[in-house]
Amino acid sequence: MNIHDSEKMAGLLEAGGLTAGEEKDADLIVLNTCSIREKAEQKFLSELGRLRALKKKRPSLRLAVAGCIAQQMGAELFKRAPHVDYVIGPQNIHAIGAITRERGGIAALGENPDIAGMELPALRKEKGRAWVNIMYGCNNFCSYCIVPYTRGRERYRPAGNILREIKSLAGEGFKEVTLLGQNVNSYPDFPCLLRGADAVEGLERIRFVTSHPKDLSEGLIRAMRELPKVCEHIHLPLQSGSTRALALMNRGYSYDDYKAKAERLREAVPEIAITSDIITGFPGETGKDHEETVRALKEMEFDGIFAFKFSPRPGTPAASMDGKVPEHVKAERLRDLLSLQDEITLRKNKRLEGATVEVLVEGKSETDPDKLAGRTRTNKIVNWGQARPAAKRGYEPLRHGDCEPIRIGELVSVKIIRALRHSLEGNPGRGDEE
Ligand code: 5AD
Ligand code: SF4
Repeated sequence: MNIHDSEKMAGLLEAGGLTAGEEKDADLIVLNTCSIREKAEQKFLSELGRLRALKKKRPSLRLAVAGCIAQQMGAELFKRAPHVDYVIGPQNIHAIGAITRERGGIAALGENPDIAGMELPALRKEKGRAWVNIMYGCNNFCSYCIVPYTRGRERYRPAGNILREIKSLAGEGFKEVTLLGQNVNSYPDFPCLLRGADAVEGLERIRFVTSHPKDLSEGLIRAMRELPKVCEHIHLPLQSGSTRALALMNRGYSYDDYKAKAERLREAVPEIAITSDIITGFPGETGKDHEETVRALKEMEFDGIFAFKFSPRPGTPAASMDGKVPEHVKAERLRDLLSLQDEITLRKNKRLEGATVEVLVEGKSETDPDKLAGRTRTNKIVNWGQARPAAKRGYEPLRHGDCEPIRIGELVSVKIIRALRHSLEGNPGRGDEE
């Protein structure tokens, strides 16, 4: 969500005549912030400190703080950090062009019920895949979560506007879109929107995040089974395997409800990858609750999880709940879950060894610049070297600028030779020649 908000702010600034460049030449720096957990806030504060020093050296530099921390701290930010010139909440990113043309000391923080009707340009850096907002805000008020307070109530973008954007992206050569929203399943007739997207010519893959288990309908499951472009992956945050904890979190489902939906998904789409989010050390979480989450991970066999220590967010009900769990217990439980999940992920990835999979090329691999990286339809990362048929020593990995073009943004077939915990390794001899 935040990455795409940044793309839109960059798009708006560009439309206003600015060009994106390096920090050392910047007239304006925009920090887009996240306040979902305290760690993200700490990162922002240290970055703000660094920019204070930069601004001392270059007083003409202007600094904007956007995102959820901006919304939460509001005009208070000007007092705490006088080197900040603009404060822009996530519901007001459309205002960035106008306010940054003014002298500074301006905040745009109001509720913006019209956000879903606004068509904002985005400056997309990636070639093959694009994010597309379908809704803004959240009505769920999970007791630990700050999002409904910073991003406001749910508002849905008109389907016609969404489909127009997807068609235009496909026309530009994008192969994959990810439909974005805090709770995409609550979009009115989401399966119908998926059908519309599936019919867009030139588009090859459709993803969507995030899904809420309580709103995952039979209609959506059917759409996932029937629509060829909808990828075999769903991110379906469980948060806890304890039904008691789920009630305290105000999640609106029991562990058994969740399990039944996941089973239905796997029945309908057998190759589906399911990933999830888990919170450890929610207030009142007992050793028994934690054991229930351990059992849930074993039963569910997720393809991957993101797990977080509970972080009290100011103003949320959970921040003032009894039964605080000590930090070291949260950390121990987190380690416990992550090491269990690592085993499960590796075991599941191993099943792919020897298989040939379709990968969308994202660019050079982060771990080895001689390799390419991309994702399968099931959202697993693949790193592989490409063949150089002319090389004397047989296959050699491709180097940047070498004889074969790196086809970023294209779909290629890659044979998986080795499964690792967080990625798959492809065969250097099987790049895109199929
Ligand atoms: N503490 C810890 N994790 C949180 N998340 C959201 N709010 C909190 C919090 N206060 C996690 C949830 C959510 C993911 C995006 O972030 O697991 O699914
Ligand atoms: Fe936060 Fe819950 Fe809404 Fe997700 S569904 S954004 S966790 S309140």
